[in-house]
This record gives sequence, C-alpha cells and structure tokens, in this order.
Amino acid sequence: MPREDAERWNARYRESSNIPIDVPRDLLVNFSHLLPTSGWGLDIATGRGANAIFLSQRGLEVVAIDISWVALYSTHLRWPSLHLILADLTEYPLPCREFDVILNFYYLDRSLFPLFSSRLKSGGLLFIETLTEKMEEIFPNRIDPMYLLREGELYNIFCDWEILYYNEGVTQGHSGLKAIASLVARKP
Ligand SMILES: C[S@@+](CC[C@H](N)C(=O)[O-])C[C@H]1O[C@@H](n2cnc3c(N)ncnc32)[C@H](O)[C@@H]1O
Repeated sequence: MPREDAERWNARYRESSNIPIDVPRDLLVNFSHLLPTSGWGLDIATGRGANAIFLSQRGLEVVAIDISWVALYSTHLRWPSLHLILADLTEYPLPCREFDVILNFYYLDRSLFPLFSSRLKSGGLLFIETLTEKMEEIFPNRIDPMYLLREGELYNIFCDWEILYYNEGVTQGHSGLKAIASLVARKP
C-alpha cells in the first residue's frame, strides 16, 4: 500500500471529521430509478461511504473499498452492514464475484476499467464521474494530469455499452468550480 497516499487521505478525513457527513453524488441520485433493489453493488474508493450507503438503503448488499481506515471507520460507525475493504486499489484485485452495480466516483485508475467489465453482470450498471483535463484551465498545475480524464476518453472506452447518460462539463462543486465527465452505462 502506498503509505503516503493512505496517510494523506487519513489526514484529510481527520481534518474534515467535523464537516457534516457527505451526501450521495447527484449522478447516482438522479439515476436512482435505474438501480435494482436487490443484488450486489461495488463502490470503488468509497471515502466516507455516502454512495455505498445510498445503494445499501435501496436494498443492495454493498462492498466498499478505500485506502483510508479513517474514512472506513467513520463509514462503519454510520452503516455497519456495508462490506468494507481497506485496500490499495492499485494493488488489490477486485473481489471475485459478479456485481449488479459498480460505482466509481472521483478516483481515477484506468487499469480498473477492464475489470469493471469482468466484474459486472450482463445488464449491470456502471456509474463513473471524475475530473477532466479541463481542470488545468480552472486550477493550473494543481492536479497530476494522470488523474484527469481526457476529452471523450470515458465515452470512447465504454462506447460498446449502452450509454444511458454521458456528459462533460464544468459545474459548481463544494470547493469551487470543477470540470467533470459523468457516465451511466449498462453492460451489454
Ligand atoms: C475524492 S475521494 C472520493 C470519495 C467518494 N468516492 C466520493 O465520491 O465522495 C477519493 C477517495 O479515494 C481514496 N483513495 C485514494 N487512493 C486510493 C487507492 N490507491 N486505493 C484505494 N482508495 C484510494 C481516498 O481515500 C478517498 O476516499
């Protein structure tokens, strides 16, 4: 596990422990009518678990993975029925089971994309939303470009799937403007 990453995220979550608990991402809420009410969900880099909890509240069993034990501990206290895994996603092989829904919000590791296909059931739903290279125009040199999606990248990777929603744009986040790409897709 990259110790520095884990420690950096633990420190961030410790500092924000007095900030009100996160809410699920709008993309997930806005397309929640597509979600099943049973089966298994997987939340990649779950953080304090708002998206995983949202799936669980709908009736899914949810596996949620993150590198930060501080975030996972807080998630566990709020929603003990989640299946939490403390792991570095750059090394950890995703659980060997089929999922009905996979969530990947604000964590970019391109090597996971082929695994999403192998871990999702046919007909399963994939939600991805993260920052794009347009962040460079908003906040130059703040984020390593390897963590930013290129224009059209997400769409092109999943163009063989049924794309239920795709958008790239600039929107207001809680800490200022953010340039994002958002995808909801169904595995064929
Ligand atoms: C910006 S937060 C996103 C949290 C959540 N998905 C959301 O939408 O609010 C990024 C998360 O990725 C986690 N993370 C960063 N590097 C990781 C790694 N190598 N393996 C697993 N989790 C990681 C961090 O601990 C953090 O919780």
